[in-house]
Amino acid sequence: MAQLSLLNITGQDTVRQRVQTLQRELHSHAHRYYVLDEPIIADAEYDRLFQELLTLEQQHPELITPDSPSQRVGGAPLAQFATVAHTNPMLSLENAFAPNDLVDFEERLFRFLQSRTPITYVTEPKLDGLAVELVYENGLFTLGSTRGDGLVGEEITQNLKTIPAIPLRLLTENGEAAPKHLEVRGEVFIGLTDFKKLNEARGGAGESLFANPRNAAAGSLRQLDPKITATRPLDFYVYGASDPTALPCRDQHALLKYLGGLGFKINPLVHLCQSISEVIDQFAQLQGQRQALTYDIDGMVVKINDFALQERLGAKARSPRWAIAAKFAASQATTSLLAVEFGVGRTGAITPVAILAPVQVGGVMVSRATLHNEDELRRKGLMIGDIVVVQRAGDVIPEVVKPVMENRTGQEQAIIMPTSCPECGVTLVRVGQEAITRCPNPDCPAQRVRSLIHFAGKSGMDIEGLGKKAVEQLVKEGLIQDIPDIYQLGQQAPGALADLDGWGEKSAENAARAIEASRAPTLTRFITALGIRHVGEVTAQLLARHFTSLARLCLAGEADFLQIEGIGEQVATSLVDYFQAPETTEMLARLEALGVCVQEEKPGAEADGVLAGYIFLFTGVLASLSRSEAKARIKELGGQIASGLNRRVTHVVLGDSPGSKLAKAQELGLPVITEAEFLQFVNR
Ligand code: IVH
Repeated sequence: MAQLSLLNITGQDTVRQRVQTLQRELHSHAHRYYVLDEPIIADAEYDRLFQELLTLEQQHPELITPDSPSQRVGGAPLAQFATVAHTNPMLSLENAFAPNDLVDFEERLFRFLQSRTPITYVTEPKLDGLAVELVYENGLFTLGSTRGDGLVGEEITQNLKTIPAIPLRLLTENGEAAPKHLEVRGEVFIGLTDFKKLNEARGGAGESLFANPRNAAAGSLRQLDPKITATRPLDFYVYGASDPTALPCRDQHALLKYLGGLGFKINPLVHLCQSISEVIDQFAQLQGQRQALTYDIDGMVVKINDFALQERLGAKARSPRWAIAAKFAASQATTSLLAVEFGVGRTGAITPVAILAPVQVGGVMVSRATLHNEDELRRKGLMIGDIVVVQRAGDVIPEVVKPVMENRTGQEQAIIMPTSCPECGVTLVRVGQEAITRCPNPDCPAQRVRSLIHFAGKSGMDIEGLGKKAVEQLVKEGLIQDIPDIYQLGQQAPGALADLDGWGEKSAENAARAIEASRAPTLTRFITALGIRHVGEVTAQLLARHFTSLARLCLAGEADFLQIEGIGEQVATSLVDYFQAPETTEMLARLEALGVCVQEEKPGAEADGVLAGYIFLFTGVLASLSRSEAKARIKELGGQIASGLNRRVTHVVLGDSPGSKLAKAQELGLPVITEAEFLQFVNR
């Protein structure tokens, strides 16, 4: 263990310094990456520094500080949330629905101020997420809370710490002191792509879907277990301070700039407007930009820029007089709820689907919308025959918002959840706290088809030519019933396929070839393809790296699963149920007999090595090993050696009496490391 001996030689003080340096550098790189979107090092290099910090902190727990970047992973779960009284109430905003409402807003201001002196405004996109308050003491993030009822919120400090866009320590320039006490406010949200991915992963693991990004953000933040929050792609924009007059800024625009300087993420679409007509123009512009944004907004917040003027205007009971939310007309429409159908998912989850009289919403014809689960359906209080409000937010899936109660005639009928599976007739079950009702029959034909679709599909084995339609057809024709049948068919194809409706020799041959090509999957891909409940790609990867072979995975018990960081009881139980079922053993044996050979995974590392993506260049003489030894070590770990100096080089290793490369490397701004650092690097 070269690393340990290095630490012994250098001593405790050096370790402390190294930990501090790592913490500082990681803070700065995270800020550049998550806040400024201008990273200066490769992701792999960041991961390496992070790993080094984790290792050192593990060996020297006394060096862990509450603001260490390592503390973003989420601490111990809570039994319940504590409450926090906000120093100043967190108000809401009045709404403006038309340009005229904005003109009226300004008129009210002029009247209240008894002056028509022109007013300067700041406009900000109104993010559709969750308002939170963050408290910093001497530059350290110490307390975070939800808005709650505006006066008292829930303490969610640990969860907020997991959000990379929230600074754990304020940035200050040239050793300047951080403000003693700072309370900022902003919006936690999930971007649209991340939202889609999150839902796909949940769907893939047989979990219930979030209805929209807002719910996903709220659900993720209000987790008693911060480790769960840490896995969710939450983001944050700051938009104000609890008491801005306590800060060295005279207006909102300056405040945002000041907060940006302290390391917070500021929305780039903030504008300063010199009149209400400029505000109205800005609103139109933002509406045009909305579709292209990577997150959901539901309007634009208009604030008076000047804090002194804000003070004079003050607030009403629930909202300040100096701000207003200009809302976009939601893409909503009303239509009738004709029926509710119940679908059966791959893991047996029963999903109610609203069948609607077709209607245009935001330019798209909508005739079906998922109602997610029974709880969601009851919460909305829907009945068949209702006139319902349907909406699409951004490019998100259409949803049924609510029934229009005024249109009720008394003829509507209650929606009755089925008690037996609509496909196989077996009695449905609802376990514990889960919102999902499931068909418990593993032989349910609907589940079988969905499992096969998942297995062959993109997030499974990715067998080209065996998409949803093809699988449905093959099952209907009696050609496949379960996973091994696919490989059996592969042996009989293309003959068995070519005569089917819609198939020809070419497509049959292609499918046969694709089945053949999928016979040696990686362990991660294979586990994901099996579609075990609660086991999506991320968990599959954890399992593959831990057990490294299918044989070892099959032998594991619950305790073995629970040993793996990131796997909890629910997943462990599901794995035990799956791998100990005789049907699973039988299926895996058949697959093996059919020549399916799941590849072994390298332990704890990605298949292509820990130095994958790193490119080294040497200059000068190394003291403790020869250049060829050093190069061999790099290659062994999957890294590359550069022949000359170029911008792709990730590390210049500095030996004794370096040549002219050193100066050139510095000119290019390439990271230069010492031989000791290099050794530490490759001996990880
Ligand atoms: S200012 C008193 N600025 O909108 C000022 N709010 O109804 C109130 N929101 O719960 C907040 N983006 O979560 C402000 N740029 C922004 C905002 C924003 C979204 C949310 C906030 C609040 C709600 C106000």
